[in-house]
Amino acid sequence: MTVRMAVFGTGYLGATHAACMAELGHEVLGVDVDGEKIASLAAGKVPFYEPGLPEILQRNIKSGRLRFTTSYEEAAEFADVHFIGVGTPQRKGEFAADLTYVESVIDTLAPLLKDAATIFGKSTVPVGTAKRLGERLRRKSPAGDALELAWNPEFLREGYAVQDTLHPDRMVLGIDDTRSGVAESVAREIYAQIIDEGVPLLVTDLATAELVKTAANAFLATKISFINAMAEVCEAADADVTVLADAIGYDARIGRRFLNAGVGFGGGCLPKDIRAFMARAGEIGADEALTFLREVDNINMRRRTRVVEMAREAVGGSLLGARIGILGAAFKPDSDDVRDSPALNIAGQIQLQGASVTVYDPKANENSRAIFPTLGYAKSAEEACAGADVILVLTEWDEFRKLEPSSLAHTVRQKKVIDGRNCLDSARWRDLGWEYRGIGVRVHSD
Ligand code: UGA
Repeated sequence: MTVRMAVFGTGYLGATHAACMAELGHEVLGVDVDGEKIASLAAGKVPFYEPGLPEILQRNIKSGRLRFTTSYEEAAEFADVHFIGVGTPQRKGEFAADLTYVESVIDTLAPLLKDAATIFGKSTVPVGTAKRLGERLRRKSPAGDALELAWNPEFLREGYAVQDTLHPDRMVLGIDDTRSGVAESVAREIYAQIIDEGVPLLVTDLATAELVKTAANAFLATKISFINAMAEVCEAADADVTVLADAIGYDARIGRRFLNAGVGFGGGCLPKDIRAFMARAGEIGADEALTFLREVDNINMRRRTRVVEMAREAVGGSLLGARIGILGAAFKPDSDDVRDSPALNIAGQIQLQGASVTVYDPKANENSRAIFPTLGYAKSAEEACAGADVILVLTEWDEFRKLEPSSLAHTVRQKKVIDGRNCLDSARWRDLGWEYRGIGVRVHSD
């Protein structure tokens, strides 16, 4: 059955959710306070790089099922199902999450809701937020008790956002067990097609649903930092972390995914989510339970410093006056997102130590320039590497994996490469006379 819904927030999460819900056959209105974003989406243009999303967006705009607006009045009029998909960034100077945007959706929407409605939160929030928001919503709305707020966390990965929304591993729904509401049946109607495919829907209380999301991201971050800690040990022991990851990964209880050592995790989710999780645990008296996440964070940040050191060693002990070519700026491939990107952070640190840095990323040059305007930006890998004393590969784009070492040999000053993602064929680079350094891999292959 077709459900009419509004989706508040049109970033990675909201825009993808809106387009995918229309793709499922629903009538969707995307809402954002940013008029420019709305104009771009309404014209069929996605304001960020996400494979597959533009096609779905355009198809559903054309069919009339998907529209965009900046008007909350229009949204309240149009739908009685509302999704909240705005951001919850890290608060400046603190670990805790900034809930301003989520609260502002509630505060603006509540007075406009006159009749029964269901509100689904999708944003990542500290445990306890949903309960509080539900009370706030009912208090501020003329519809009062006829409103129900449920939590339906999102697990999509950038780069696979469409696939993860339409074919998720699981769906989670937290409902307010103090109310005998309709949220579960509404959710089952909205997601009928996905549920029919056999995707499990776990229905639980609000707090558990909120925690599932933060726990999942904390586990993923821990897995990455675990392997990066092993990389440190491997470096000290002259062992190879890639082989180690392959070998432990064959154990199904461990699994090979998210065991890639490198410059560590970044992006708009993992780093801020583990910090907000620690902050919240402290507030509710469970801080000891999560002190290990501080170490997860430390290991992660240490990787960045380590790669800067490796670059310094490669150019003979001082970066002053050295030329460094950096391949990759996005926090991961198939994304133009540079929020807390290890690659860009490393580029910045190297420049601060007096080197001249040129960056090339297939999609993220523009976003990088906005944050780090003083770095040099190139239009190709070859251009970024021109005259370089050492090249650093910091995002594992396919384009870099496939790089032909000989195509760069004539342009660099020294044939030295640091593979910050262990994504290159080290034997091939070494065979062609390059000095190759990876993360947690043996310095000499023989
Ligand atoms: C992450 C989660 O994977 C999603 O499930 C979640 O929904 C999302 O956050 C969110 O909270 O919204 P995302 O930030 O898109 O998704 O990126 P990931 O694919 O998780 O990668 C995160 C970082 O870890 C990247 O910088 C990546 O390069 C790094 N990484 C990943 C490693 O360093 N090693 C690995 O083995 C895997």
